[in-house]
Order: sequence, then C-alpha cells, then structure tokens
Amino acid sequence: MGVRGLMESIQAIKQRFGIIGNTPALNRAIEKAIQVAPTDISVLVTGESGVGKESIPKIIHQLSHRKHNKYIAVNCGAIPEGTIDSELFGHEKGSFTGATQTREGYFEVADGGTIFLDEVGELPLTTQVRLLRVLENGEFLKVGSSKVQKTNVRIVAATNVNMFEAIEKEKFREDLYYRLSTVDIHLPPLRDRQDDIHLLFRKFASDFALKYKMPTIKLTDAAIQTLLKHRWAGNIRQLRNIAEQLSVLEQNRTISAETLKSYLPATGSNLPAVIKTSKSESDFSSEREILYKVLFDMKSDLNDLKKLTLELMKNGNTKDVEKKNESLIQKIYGDDEDDAEYEEDTTTNSEVLSIPEHSANHTTPETLDKYHFAEEIEEEETLSLQDKELELIKKSLERHQGKRKLAAAELGISERTLYRKIKQYDL
Ligand SMILES: Nc1ncnc2c1ncn2[C@@H]1O[C@H](COP(=O)(O)OP(=O)(O)OP(=O)(O)O)[C@@H](O)[C@H]1O
Ligand SMILES: [Mg+2]
Repeated sequence: MGVRGLMESIQAIKQRFGIIGNTPALNRAIEKAIQVAPTDISVLVTGESGVGKESIPKIIHQLSHRKHNKYIAVNCGAIPEGTIDSELFGHEKGSFTGATQTREGYFEVADGGTIFLDEVGELPLTTQVRLLRVLENGEFLKVGSSKVQKTNVRIVAATNVNMFEAIEKEKFREDLYYRLSTVDIHLPPLRDRQDDIHLLFRKFASDFALKYKMPTIKLTDAAIQTLLKHRWAGNIRQLRNIAEQLSVLEQNRTISAETLKSYLPATGSNLPAVIKTSKSESDFSSEREILYKVLFDMKSDLNDLKKLTLELMKNGNTKDVEKKNESLIQKIYGDDEDDAEYEEDTTTNSEVLSIPEHSANHTTPETLDKYHFAEEIEEEETLSLQDKELELIKKSLERHQGKRKLAAAELGISERTLYRKIKQYDL
C-alpha cells in the first residue's frame, strides 16, 4: 500500500471507530494496528488511563480474518482472583463448591476469534502460567480437569501500569510479558496531543448538546488556553466528563477560563469531597458521580419546594403552614448547626422561596430556566438518578464500614438526611 493509500485507510478507520484526532503518534498507532491485523501476532496496547486503548483491539479484530468469529473483551482487573481461571478457561462440574455445571471458558468460546485482555497487569500469577501455555501452543485445561484442550485464539492485551515495574516486583512474569508484547502499540497521553485537545472538546460538546437537548457550549480564547495547558491525568475520559458536566450544569453557554478552571481538579473543584475519595488517580468515575449527585440534589430540593409552594398556594403564608411544614422547611434550608456551608446558601435560596405567588408570573428568568431544566431531567432520568443515588450511598457506607458520620461528610449531606435516605431505600 502506498503512503497515500495508507493515510486514506487510517482516516477511514478513524471514521468507522469514532476516533478523533490527527496527532502523528495516534496515526502511527492506528497504522500499526492495520498492519498487524491480518497476522496472529500478539499485541500489547499501552498508554495511560483514558487514552483510548479499547478501540485498538476492536480495529485489529475487525480487520483480521477472524472478524466473523467471536471478539471477547475481558477486564482482568474486574474479575475476582478466585474465579478468573474458571472464567477464562472454564471448569469441570464439581471442581469446586458451586460448580454444579461444566462451564466453557472464554478461550473455548472464542475459538477462532480474538480475546482482548484489558488490564492484563492485574492477572494473578497462577493465571499467568495458564495464559503462557495457551500462547505458546494453544493448549489449556479446564479448572478441575486433566484433559488438554486446544484453542486458536488471538490475544490483544492492554495495560496502563508500568509492566517493567510489575516484573521487577515479581507481580508479572517476564516471559509472559515478552510473549504478549510481540508488537507494542503505544497511545500518547492527551497532554502530548495539543492539536487534538480542542478538537476533541468540540466533538464532545456537540455530542452532549444533542444528548441533553441544549445549545452547544463554547470556550472563550482564554478557556481554550486553559484547556491546552491542563495536565489531563485522566486523559480523554476526563476531558469527556468535563465537557459533559459543563454541558449539563452551565447556564451561560460561553465558558470562561474561570468557569472551566472550577471544574478542573488541580485548582480544586467546587465539590472536592467526592474527588478526594476516588480510590486512585485514574478513577474518574467519581466525576460522573458528582454530576449525578448535583442532579439528584437539585431534584430533591425541587420536589420539596414544589410541596411547599403548593401548600402556600392553598393556605397562604400563615403560621400554620410554617408549623405544619417545619421539617420540610428545615430540610430545604438546612437543619444542622455544624453545617456552615448550608447557612451561607440560605440567603440566596430564600430569595426564591419568599415569593409565595411564585407559581403565577413573578418567576424570574433564572428560576424559570432552572425549573425547566430540572423538569426535563426529571422525566428522563428520575429512575436512573435514584439508582445512582442509592449506589453512591451504598458505596460511601461501604468505604466507611457503615459509619454514617463519615459517609454523610463524604456525600456532603447531613447525617440526618443520610439517615432518611437509608430508611427510604431500606438499606
Ligand atoms: N480518539 C478518540 N476520539 C474520541 N473518543 C475517544 C478517543 N479516545 C478515547 N475516546 C473515548 O475516551 C474514553 C476512554 O477511552 P478508553 O476506555 O479506550 O480508555 P483506556 O485507554 O482503555 O483507559 P483505561 O486504561 O482506564 O481502561 C472512551 O469513552 C472513548 O470512547
Ligand atoms: Mg480501558
């Protein structure tokens, strides 16, 4: 294939697999994937968390003669050590407690196809021995069986950990490393892809505008500079999450450098508590959690306000109403002496609520916008928001071994609110 032909196919692959960017290092990685695809050579994809490693094995499989057979992606880091051998290689009936049926493993199911071993650095050493054997001669044993089976599987592995360090610490077998990394495809971190950063951001901004049916956000020149200078420890995944947060939360669709900075972890987010608890630097799922938390907090406040407004509309602003709704009012405006942040908010909040006739046409444009926004979310996301809230609370309680005080602090709610939620969800 000539240089032009190759460039054309790189562009076509990007289109087909939704890969954005034009950095030479990215093109080189895709080019390598195209070149090794027709062979059965093992490939190791390396690069920091969130750089887009997952699309490489898909490209390799789709461009190979194996494309009509199975492609199985296995996240080695997510499977418990006790079951991973059985997942990968299958087990014989009765081989351990609970093994009531003989089970086929991925290596049997994917015969003739491709297996993507994501986070391969997490594989236990005993599993590494089994894997080495499959790679060398296509042979494996089911757990609890002594019958040698054959399989023909192409392996693409990925890792975001330093494999040499893992080898040094004897957590990863050196022979397996060399066997897996016959060809190494490296994806560069986002900060080294300066020309792609704004391009990716615009793409995500337009995707989320469509998804949330809101106008597309746009960065000021200064904000673009901030975007380019940031370190992006979570790479494209982090950029995407920030584009999503901005798209959902910012009323002003032109984003200033200041606004952008408030979303970037280095300068401190407005909700630092949740970020701090993420289990590792690479775990950016917590940013999504923040987003959900903000949304369900808003929704819950809104429901409380609705209740109160209705009450006020029916009965007017009498002492009676105040008394009857004491707990609701306390919930909305804060009930904790030790909750200083809450008190600061009271003034701004009470401005909205001190207008009992508010359901008529005295609504300010701002509150109107917020209201409509929340309504829209309510229709589409109520269920998943509740799921998310439940999940957040569960996780937090787990992290703190059931200690409510710590969990409440982490979630940024009062202990009393947490208690109420625990009851609500029957936890
Ligand atoms: N070039 C790209 N264009 C568009 N989206 C991308 C690109 N690269 C990655 N993404 C998106 O970024 C996110 C992270 O990518 P991916 O899951 O492949 O990361 P990863 O390298 O496997 O990270 P980890 O090591 O943490 O698993 C995905 O949502 C992916 O769709
Ligand atoms: Mg991944």
